[in-house]
Amino acid sequence: DYKFFYSHSCYNPETRSALIISINNRVIKIAPSLLSADFAELGKETQRASSAGADWLHVDVMDGHFVPNITIGPVVTAAIRPHTKLPLDVHLMISEPEKYIEPFCKAGADMVSFHIEASGGHSEKLVDLIKKFGKKAGVVLNPATPAVSVGALIGKVDYVLAMTVWPGFGGQKFIADVLPKIKELRLMFGNGFDVQVDGGLNPQTAFECARNGANVIVAGTAVFGQKDLAAAIKALRDNALKGMKSP
Ligand code: DX5
Ligand code: ZN
Repeated sequence: DYKFFYSHSCYNPETRSALIISINNRVIKIAPSLLSADFAELGKETQRASSAGADWLHVDVMDGHFVPNITIGPVVTAAIRPHTKLPLDVHLMISEPEKYIEPFCKAGADMVSFHIEASGGHSEKLVDLIKKFGKKAGVVLNPATPAVSVGALIGKVDYVLAMTVWPGFGGQKFIADVLPKIKELRLMFGNGFDVQVDGGLNPQTAFECARNGANVIVAGTAVFGQKDLAAAIKALRDNALKGMKSP
């Protein structure tokens, strides 16, 4: 007796069809990860993803300490900013996130997420700090971190991100063991809330994640690794929608 609540349908001139974009107040969003873009052409790559139908742009920040890789800092984030009107979704995979929230907010992030494992028990303060700058706050869980560890942030954060690979590198294999936790997070945070997944997402795994309650799909390889970005984003969205509708 699970009933879908269809709302906000819209007309898509490209496919000439009415699209159902929201079920149970959940909207599928595709967030290409710039980690898999050509770093020598970040401006162009940002524009390419934006005009291919992305909803958010995912910026992976790594410090070589919390994760074994180093990527983008506030300077590069600021350089990307003028190339898109889409929200910049900054994923901090760093130790001591409190030190860098301000620089990333000032660099033009619209949303900032930090890892619960790196929060040193001060997650509520980190959320307040992000919100002080008028940005959306998200909390991230590594594959082995249980859903209950972010329970105190219900009603405080704007989105939650379940890692479906161990953070650090693009192109890794999706960890299916995380699926029950995605379901749990959806139940904990409720329907009109953004539950994001990141790592190893392709149309098939996006289907599985959406079926278990995720509505924001981050994808690096499955977008920038493809020739036709618009087709890649559409395939992710179509499959996630199917997953969302699937019991
Ligand atoms: C991993 C990053 C991801 C990464 C995903 O540490 O947080 O955002 O870019 O890449 P794919 O989609 O290739 O697994
Ligand atoms: Zn990420």
